[in-house]
Amino acid sequence: MNKSGNQGGPLLLGIDLGTSRTMILSNRGARASVRSVVGYPKDIIGVKLMHHAHMIGEEALKRQSYLDIHYPLEDGVLKEANDQAAEAAKLLIEHAISLANPQPGDQVYGVLGVPARASMFNKNQLLKITQEVLDLSMVVSEPFMAAYAIDQLNNSIIIDIGAGTTDICAMKGTIPGVDEQVTSFKAGNYIDLVLENLIRENYPAVQMTNNLARKIKEQYAFVGESKEDIVVTLRVAGKPGSYNLTREVKTACETIVTEIVEQLQSLIMVFDPEDQEEALTNIFLTGGGSRIRGVEALIMEGMKEYGPVQVRQVPDPDFCGGLGALKLAMELPPKYWEQVGQVSNKAAK
Ligand SMILES: Nc1ncnc2c1ncn2[C@@H]1O[C@H](COP(=O)(O)OP(=O)(O)OP(=O)(O)O)[C@@H](O)[C@H]1O
Ligand SMILES: [Mg+2]
Repeated sequence: MNKSGNQGGPLLLGIDLGTSRTMILSNRGARASVRSVVGYPKDIIGVKLMHHAHMIGEEALKRQSYLDIHYPLEDGVLKEANDQAAEAAKLLIEHAISLANPQPGDQVYGVLGVPARASMFNKNQLLKITQEVLDLSMVVSEPFMAAYAIDQLNNSIIIDIGAGTTDICAMKGTIPGVDEQVTSFKAGNYIDLVLENLIRENYPAVQMTNNLARKIKEQYAFVGESKEDIVVTLRVAGKPGSYNLTREVKTACETIVTEIVEQLQSLIMVFDPEDQEEALTNIFLTGGGSRIRGVEALIMEGMKEYGPVQVRQVPDPDFCGGLGALKLAMELPPKYWEQVGQVSNKAAK
């Protein structure tokens, strides 16, 4: 028996804090996600309707009309130096932990992913929060976690297409440094905006929102050649009609690929020349945006002058980062955590 009284030892968590979604996995089999959103009532009517001081995730989004909506992570990084943002982030993290069902008396240890570019200040802000809600916590770079999940820590490239950012990271057998990664703000949210605007331009009478554009993208996203037309029911002055959006979806999704190819071309130079072929045949796509159909082929097409190139999607793109975090928590004895990431310890508070 351990100190907590639980025979199985501490509850270990892998947490991937994303701009749009937070994923959590535990060594006892929990696997859950929550939209990274916290809503507070706008006024007393909202308080009455809600019966709570705040609401988290999809529930908050559904009640947008009477809530002030906060996204505690902006472009994947904790919003800086603002008490309310810190409070919202804490509520979100607490909620995520509750989804893993900690039992009374559990020691709870968590590994959290942060973008490789997160500043020291940002990591420390996050650790201040996790120190209050976890017994032991470590923050590590997100692409490292994804690479760890699929055992690709050396001579590989991870491309994480998220909501706020696309992060491309060269794995060279160590925790990636700033020179080994590039970030672009052309990711899922950017595609939504382009798609929304294209539909507005081409069909001005249609009622279009950003959320609707996102839903259309999530259902139909593709690049390259389409196999069949995308026909969607949209409304004009309340009346439904059928619209062919094949061209709009393709154009919007392709806007992010050119930049990914350019960034890959500059990042490949961080590998020694004799390692470049291996790295180019070990390119892995993760994140929700990696579900865009045909994206692997279009990236390979863009890289065709570089010799053999192989781009593959990781097996579980939504949970890959969280899986890597959990794997790390389970495989690395806590006394070594400080050697891998930044750590905070409740007992040391
Ligand atoms: N089938 C799909 N096709 C295309 N895009 C999708 C699909 N499913 C989800 N997405 C998009 O993936 C994005 C969310 O991915 P993910 O959960 O990896 O992001 P995140 O980790 O929250 O963001 P970030 O990494 O930028 O902080 C959203 O933009 C979402 O619309
Ligand atoms: Mg992410």
